Amino acid sequence: MRSDQGQPVRLSDYRVPDYLVDAVSLDIALHRTATRIRSTLRLRPNPAGVAGAPLHLDGDELAATALSLDGAPLDLALAAPDGLTIAAPPARAFTLEVETVVDPSANTQLMGLYRSGSAYCTQCEAEGFRRITYYPDRPDVLSVFTTRIEAELRDAPVLLGNGDPVEAGPVPGTDRHFAVWHDPHPKPCYLFAVVGGRLDALRDTFTTSEGRRVDLAVWVEPGKTGQAGYAMDALKRSMRWDEEVFGRAYDLGTFNVVAVSDFNMGAMENKGLNIFNDKYVLASPELATDADYAGIETVIAHEYFHNWTGNRITCRDWFQLSLKEGLTVFRDHEFSADQRSRAVKRIADVRALRARQFAEDAGPLAHSVRPDSYSAIDNFYTATVYEKGAEVVGMVRTLVGRDAFARGLQLYFERFDGTAATVEDFLGCFAEASGRDLAQFSRWYGQAGTPRVTVRTRRDAEARTLTLDLDQHTDPTPGQPEKWPFVIPISFGLVGPDGAARPVRTGERHGLSDAELAQGVIELDAPARTVRFEDVEPGTIPSLLRGFSAPVRLVTDAAEADLVTLMTHDSDPFNRWDAAQTVLSRLILDGVRGNAADPGRLREAFAAAVRTGASDPAFAAQVLALPGEGDLAREIGRDVDPDAVHAARERVRASLGVLLAAELRAVVAAGADAGPYAPDAAGAGRRAFRNAALSLLAAGDPALGAELAADQFDRADNMTDRFAALAVLSLIPGEAREGALDRFYARYRDEPLVVDKWFGLQASIPEGATVERVRRLMGHPAFSLAVPNRVYALLGAFGGNITQFNRRDGSGYRLVAEAVLALDGRNPQVAARMLGAFRSWRLMEPGRRALAETALKSIAAGPALSADVQEMASRSLR
Ligand code: TRP
Ligand code: ZN
Repeated sequence: MRSDQGQPVRLSDYRVPDYLVDAVSLDIALHRTATRIRSTLRLRPNPAGVAGAPLHLDGDELAATALSLDGAPLDLALAAPDGLTIAAPPARAFTLEVETVVDPSANTQLMGLYRSGSAYCTQCEAEGFRRITYYPDRPDVLSVFTTRIEAELRDAPVLLGNGDPVEAGPVPGTDRHFAVWHDPHPKPCYLFAVVGGRLDALRDTFTTSEGRRVDLAVWVEPGKTGQAGYAMDALKRSMRWDEEVFGRAYDLGTFNVVAVSDFNMGAMENKGLNIFNDKYVLASPELATDADYAGIETVIAHEYFHNWTGNRITCRDWFQLSLKEGLTVFRDHEFSADQRSRAVKRIADVRALRARQFAEDAGPLAHSVRPDSYSAIDNFYTATVYEKGAEVVGMVRTLVGRDAFARGLQLYFERFDGTAATVEDFLGCFAEASGRDLAQFSRWYGQAGTPRVTVRTRRDAEARTLTLDLDQHTDPTPGQPEKWPFVIPISFGLVGPDGAARPVRTGERHGLSDAELAQGVIELDAPARTVRFEDVEPGTIPSLLRGFSAPVRLVTDAAEADLVTLMTHDSDPFNRWDAAQTVLSRLILDGVRGNAADPGRLREAFAAAVRTGASDPAFAAQVLALPGEGDLAREIGRDVDPDAVHAARERVRASLGVLLAAELRAVVAAGADAGPYAPDAAGAGRRAFRNAALSLLAAGDPALGAELAADQFDRADNMTDRFAALAVLSLIPGEAREGALDRFYARYRDEPLVVDKWFGLQASIPEGATVERVRRLMGHPAFSLAVPNRVYALLGAFGGNITQFNRRDGSGYRLVAEAVLALDGRNPQVAARMLGAFRSWRLMEPGRRALAETALKSIAAGPALSADVQEMASRSLR
């Protein structure tokens, strides 16, 4: 267990390190059960630290087998499992040598050095390096690493480290060989990595804008290089894009990506040696969906972009995590937007933000983008730190404008290169570049919760004015009873009743500043503000929060007819989509309240949306996807009956399916693409549109839907269409469904990433029998609590199944609680993540709430809990 168990770490307690490490030399002899690590640290007192302070090196389940200072042996007992302390080290530079032995085969936490399949690999972020050797395991200690790796040639013919290869060869007189890697860029130890094993490489080269030739390789399990091509292509596109858009070139002669099948998260940006969950590397048309391809592109880019935002400039402490993660997500969003459709990417990102981050912000796990205390930092790799963090960066750009944003970012790269920085350092660059004070804006980093912006519209036809009364309110979140007003940038435009854009004029009273008018952005920085547009034609409609310019919940009083005008005509595609979502959401919520929802009046508007699919199918697919059950539950806000939400949503889906049957049939009948599958944006958009049409059609006419889906399932030549068909079938109980599921498994049983889809889909079925099905699947020979991807596929998907996780009898809560306890002893990080399923339990009606609370308490009362699960359970119960 971790050394910091129990005691929370606080941002306000930050102190500079008392000792610095100038150089680290590691000599690692890989062995399946006893890997020996010799570490030589060149240490010196930090002039800014406390003179004469004891030297403390972190450890986690370690013991020293040798220990010396400047060549003189030290008592091995100084090295405890959780750390090594030397009371009075020299007041000058000195050398510490430590030898440790670890067992990678017994490492089930997948932190530190472990085995995945037949390979050795490491995961050191956030605090895994201390499970390999004693070290000041904190991101503000930067050092130059040289790594010698040695292994039996048969066991690990491939040996990879950070930086560039220096030397390699046989160890004379043995069956062993070695490789030496050197990374000239000083880095914190969380970016350290080694890999050893039997792996195949897909190789390529890249020449940077600075003329540096880089050897690229994507390493995969033997025989799988045929599935690495898209990842390599995405890597090269990322490298070029970062040069062109941000002026950032790669800085080593080698860049390796390694895919492993056992990994706690998506991927890791170790310097020059990124290690990936193979889910984000491997793809072929037969085995991966368009969404999988898009995920690979995004994650490859994300990890590559970390080379500058994360590695060259790292974080002073883990509270600054969003400094690298929020900024890097912002960068990967921009990249994907440039590679694909910007509008569709924005819609997909906002859908995910609402589903994951808004849910987090609205419940007991709410925390700010920069948290101020933690027990287990692994619990803060969250949608808030990542996705909301990216939104905050986007708001900086909206507020200071594109030019000042670009200048501020270049300033950041120049000024903080080679350092461990803070959020203040980052914001300071934009304040300097723009001349704007960002003090109030910085509340976005410190205050949790999603602000609600309410708009009241007043029209005076005679005076030709349109007045908006805007106010902002943020509900209390744990530990933050009172909220101060945020600076909320609201991008806007005016749309005439005919749908055409209208010029914007404001007067003296309630006017906008010149800057606001020039940018088309209302800055709401007070609790309330009134804005008056003048010389406005009657019937003019405000289009607010264009492009989702701030991560807020906008409550609009717009009439349905105005929303329909926006959804059909707004020049801002995001708001066209969002207007449709608002219309649908109102309709469904009306149904939840017991009013028969009749979307008949919306037929023409949605038929028109279907017609736009001819020119922009990817966008039309998004319009046809209804708001999620979780989003709807949050709109209701309290005492939610998830079955009622589900039923009302299904009624609207069915009605739309019936109303639009002719149009949808035509879309589906247009048939599969001619020619071979290609994972490009255009093809993916066509498939998404057809499959969205099929899904809606099946909601309206299950018999027809089952027939069409069964046909598509059998005939598809790619996983996207086959799996979409299976998803449609999965919602229609009966023999056809079970047969298709069986055939799918039989066909793909040797493809773990596809078997994950099979588990996930079944756990998502919104039917009473799903809890038993999931229990049954937990006993399936292909299921294992030891493989994170399997756990996420089955139990993660179940946790997102709103009606079944929140079953009225509590059996869904119990199932997840039992799984969390079963997982905790093996892999606390994964166990803690599964607990996230409970993030919205307080929204439920009292009966379910009581059952969820009981389940959470049963977790909290579990024996020998990890710090990770302990923290998540107690925060969930707040
Ligand atoms: N830094 C990684 C990323 O976002 C996140 C990560 C990968 C991670 N593996 C982890 C975080 C294990 C904590 C634990 O790109
Ligand atoms: Zn990241």
